[in-house]
Amino acid sequence: MKLLSRRGFQALAFLIASTFALTFSISASGQAKSSSHPVSQVSQASPWWDNAVIYEIYPRSFQDSNGDGVGDLNGITSRLDYLKALGVDAVWLTPVYPSPQVDFGYDISDYRAIDSQYGTLADFDKLQQQAKQRNIGLIMDLVLNHTSDKHPWFIESAKSRTNPRANWYVWRDAKMVNGKPEPPNNWISLFGGSSWQWDPARKQYYYHRFYVQQPDLNWRNPQVRKAMYDVERYWIQRGVAGFRLDAITALFESPTFSDEPYVRDKNGKIEISAYGDKEVTSSKTDNLPGVNGVLKQLRQVADSTSDPKWGHTAVLIGETYVDSIADLRKLYGLHNDELNLPMDMQVGFINKLDVAEFRKNINDAETKLDGYEPLFVFDNHDNARWDRYSDGQHTQEIGRMLAAVLFASRDTAMMYYGDEIGMKTTPPTRKQDVRDPIGIKGWPKEKGRDGERTPMQWSPVANAGFSKPGVKTWLPIPNTFITVNVEDEVRDPNSMLNWYKQMIALRKTNPAFRGREVMLNTDNNRVLSWLRRAKGSPAVVVACNFTAQEQTIGFDLSAEGIHGSGVKTLLKSPGTSDPASLKQVRLPAFGVYIGQVE
Ligand code: BGC
Ligand code: MG
Repeated sequence: MKLLSRRGFQALAFLIASTFALTFSISASGQAKSSSHPVSQVSQASPWWDNAVIYEIYPRSFQDSNGDGVGDLNGITSRLDYLKALGVDAVWLTPVYPSPQVDFGYDISDYRAIDSQYGTLADFDKLQQQAKQRNIGLIMDLVLNHTSDKHPWFIESAKSRTNPRANWYVWRDAKMVNGKPEPPNNWISLFGGSSWQWDPARKQYYYHRFYVQQPDLNWRNPQVRKAMYDVERYWIQRGVAGFRLDAITALFESPTFSDEPYVRDKNGKIEISAYGDKEVTSSKTDNLPGVNGVLKQLRQVADSTSDPKWGHTAVLIGETYVDSIADLRKLYGLHNDELNLPMDMQVGFINKLDVAEFRKNINDAETKLDGYEPLFVFDNHDNARWDRYSDGQHTQEIGRMLAAVLFASRDTAMMYYGDEIGMKTTPPTRKQDVRDPIGIKGWPKEKGRDGERTPMQWSPVANAGFSKPGVKTWLPIPNTFITVNVEDEVRDPNSMLNWYKQMIALRKTNPAFRGREVMLNTDNNRVLSWLRRAKGSPAVVVACNFTAQEQTIGFDLSAEGIHGSGVKTLLKSPGTSDPASLKQVRLPAFGVYIGQVE
């Protein structure tokens, strides 16, 4: 199963959705039982990331300060006040380490420095310090599964079968077929082709889950583990607030190295990927049991390394595309000793506006994670932006509604730069414009990830305020920047940006949003609605119309012990009116209403 390409990803989301229904009743087996009041089970004081808003920055595309058309660290530093005003608690930076940039930073050649394109370590320290002054944490991307083939570890490892790092990567002998060397098995790279690359010096193949230039490390080697735990410590001591652990479920491969089964369609025909490969399952390369042991050790390092600069525990976030809520639960560790926040991709990547699915997946996060904090996410640098949910007519309204789901749920909210101004996916239209190698390889079936990585739109001027006018930016600026930009939206009280600001402010200031979440009117498949409740403060009702038609909905909260039906508006999307009571709330197409129960 492919996890990263948009197409593969949507297939995965579909698979998740369809298997959920079947595994519902057995999914909690072997796990501590959850109750209907899961939040109260977590008794220790909440960590800093509970209820936080985490903002993903793709550094190449946020702000260019030196006029080379590529974003950089000083550019990010210059925009910290903007992030503060938005209500951001932490920023996740995708990789900024030295890298040949084959996978735009996910191929790292030095884990303890900054790529000169983005700045220097001194620039990093300044960014960290200035973010901290605004109480914003910096989360680094830690790529543990693989390095660049230009990393000195790999260069050494590839020299011979006997050098000190000979066993740092996943090397295998060829399979001899009719006297000719062939790859050890049928595993394929997520980015196309066999996942085995022949090395003439060692006369062996090495394994790469991603590009050929991204050889997988051998996590069964204790020296590899130690080297990476040292990297983790190094950045914590430098002041980071935590890590987003890249491809973390992929660290181990089955020691049998036997063939994977092929993925077949319903007629039994083997499926062919966008790159022309025969699709195989990932049962021998993903989510193997060894991962949990590594997570525990990473967590011990995080919990025991003091970080006087950030001043709080470092958070461990996982890039965790898993198949079920039970698998997600396991990634927290049975005793809360693994990831702090494995990403829940099950809510945000349903990829269709299906109320029942949203309700089920949000409720699963509320009731089947034993009260641990879920992390919801709707888009990132690997997937089409939120506008993939658009019906073509109500894009703005749908964007507001999805933001309400993200920010009014009980979760840590992960957002992607530009979502807050309504930036849309803008894929290249010609092959010669594509920058992401998977788009070059997979064109036109797979257009790559450029569409969600276009530069941030700051103002309605040439190069959108991202870079100096006249500079050729690394990806083109979408022509929507004339109207979709920060400068104009700051001034417009009804803009997407101001909707985001209000949603985030409400979530932070109204205590109900720290409390539990109860789904309401659960047989209504047009309106998704829920109640937020915390002890000692009035309950809050949230209602989202998932349809293009006006809907009227009434709430009876007596099952929750609430008998009044008075309501006071806290926030509503444009065109929604103030209801006289909870008995009749009218919502325009894709409208949102949030009210305090009186
Ligand atoms: C990152 C991708 C990257 C891949 C390989 C992913 O999980 O999010 O952008 O291409 O890992 O490192
Ligand atoms: Mg620059």
